[in-house]
Amino acid sequence: MIAPKHIAFIMDGNGRWATKQGLPRSAGHKAGYEHIPDVLKMCQELGVNVISCYAWSTENWGRPEKETTFLLRALENHLPRFVKELHDRDIRFVHSGFRDDLTAKAQKRLNEAVTLTENNQSGVFNFAYNYGGRAEILHAARQLLAEGNASHETLEQKLEAHLWTAGLPDVDLVIRTGGDLRLSNFMLWQSAYACLHVVGNYWPAITREDIEAGIAYFNEVMVRV
Ligand code: FPP
Repeated sequence: MIAPKHIAFIMDGNGRWATKQGLPRSAGHKAGYEHIPDVLKMCQELGVNVISCYAWSTENWGRPEKETTFLLRALENHLPRFVKELHDRDIRFVHSGFRDDLTAKAQKRLNEAVTLTENNQSGVFNFAYNYGGRAEILHAARQLLAEGNASHETLEQKLEAHLWTAGLPDVDLVIRTGGDLRLSNFMLWQSAYACLHVVGNYWPAITREDIEAGIAYFNEVMVRV
């Protein structure tokens, strides 16, 4: 088995997971963020060192205020503990998304996470929060235009260097939980050649077997292309 270099997770189904158990949606989000370190460990054991997780999209702000506030507070209050765990395991934290329009506390937490872990070498955790795939590409293009020095020959590399994932390998495998066959505007540039594996389990219940099945599918496709 060849391990994918980079798996991107679309963490869907927190709400349905909670509802199924008669719990409020926020309980699903809590179980969801508490499950991230386990999934990260499973991936590392399977030889995958770069992981992206889609935590919150730029469109998600349209959700009820109770839910948006819950996840924002979760970031503000729980990120340091999670990042310490990453740091202890020599994993670098990368944030993909717009930071400027978040609360001062959330910005501080994200900045601290990036700074604390910037020299870590054993893996990367890319946290997509306040993220949109098209918005990321447009943001990079606007920066290039403002710099005004991108020639036709170097345009692709320069644009890539302005993405939030600059320097990371392309996504080999997208794993989406919750059963929907959708990309939801996640890492559109980086996933251009990725395999897509959709699992029925909701995010808080994703298992090692689900990830192994995704990796097996990736291997099956790779021998054909
Ligand atoms: C989709 O499930 C999930 C989200 C919109 C949020 C995912 C976020 C996390 C798992 C944790 C993020 C961590 C921090 C610290 C902010 P959904 O609730 O839309 O599921 P549904 O389709 O069942 O309604």
